[in-house]
Amino acid sequence: MATIAVSGASGKTGWRVVQEALQRGHQVKALVRPASQLPAGLEGAEVVRLELSDSTALQTALRGCEALVIATGARPSVDLAGPLKVDAFGVREQISACTAVGVNRVVLVSSLCAGRLLHPLNLFGLILMWKRLGERWLEQSGLAWTIVRPGGLSERDEGLEAEGVVFSGPDQQESNSIPRRLVARVCLDCLDTPASVGQIVEITSSPDQPPQPLGSWLAAS
Ligand SMILES: NC(=O)c1ccc[n+]([C@@H]2O[C@H](COP(=O)([O-])OP(=O)(O)OC[C@H]3O[C@@H](n4cnc5c(N)ncnc54)[C@H](OP(=O)(O)O)[C@@H]3O)[C@@H](O)[C@H]2O)c1
Repeated sequence: MATIAVSGASGKTGWRVVQEALQRGHQVKALVRPASQLPAGLEGAEVVRLELSDSTALQTALRGCEALVIATGARPSVDLAGPLKVDAFGVREQISACTAVGVNRVVLVSSLCAGRLLHPLNLFGLILMWKRLGERWLEQSGLAWTIVRPGGLSERDEGLEAEGVVFSGPDQQESNSIPRRLVARVCLDCLDTPASVGQIVEITSSPDQPPQPLGSWLAAS
C-alpha cells in the first residue's frame, strides 16, 4: 500500500483515479482547488484544497507521498490562457513540488495529439501545444515519469470488463475514445509497472480489442 496524490481530483478523470486507487488499497490525497466542487467519488480520500501556484501548500500536500497522478486540465472557458496556465505552468508547478519534496514517481494524463499544431482542439487556447510543453517539462524533470495520452474521454462506467485498451507509443493514434474509468485504471497500472517509466503511452479502447495488461503490451512493444 502506498500513499498516492491525485491532482485535479475534482475532475471527471481525477475522481475515478482516486476511486480506483482506494480500491487497490492505497491511501489517497485528493488535491483540489479552494473552490472545487467535490464529487462523491472522493469518499475515503484525504481532500487537500490548494492553488497549484502555492508552492508551500503543494509541497506540504505532497510530502510523504510515493507518487503523483496529474489529472488537472484546463476547463472549457472563454479564458484562452487557461491551457497555458493549467496544462503547461500548472504541470510545471507540480513537477517542481515533486522534486522539492522527493516524490519521484509521476503519471501525467495528457492527450492524444499533444504537440500537434494543426488540430481543431487548438481553437481552445492552443491546448495541444501547451500540453506538449507540460509533457516536455516532465520528460526533462529527472523524475520517474509516465505520460498517458488518452483519446476522447467518455463517462461510461458500465460494460468495461470486456473492453480492451488499445495501447500505442507516441503519435500513433489520433482519434477514437476511451472511458475515463479505463484511463484511471491505466494510470494506476503505470504505477505498478516499472517498464512504463519514461514512456509515452497512447490509449483508446474498443470492444473489439481483447483486454491485455499494460505490462504485456510494454513487453511486446
Ligand atoms: N475531454 C476529453 O475528451 C479529453 C481527451 C483527452 C485528454 N483530456 C485531458 O484529460 C485530463 C482529464 O480530463 P477530464 O475531462 O476528466 O477533466 P475535467 O473533468 O475537466 O477536470 C479538470 C480538473 O482540473 C482542475 N483544474 C482546472 N483548472 C485548474 C487550475 N487552474 N488549477 C488547479 N486545478 C485545475 C479542475 O478543478 P475544478 O474542479 O476546480 O475545476 C478539475 O479537477 C485533462 O488534462 C484533459 O485535458 C481530455
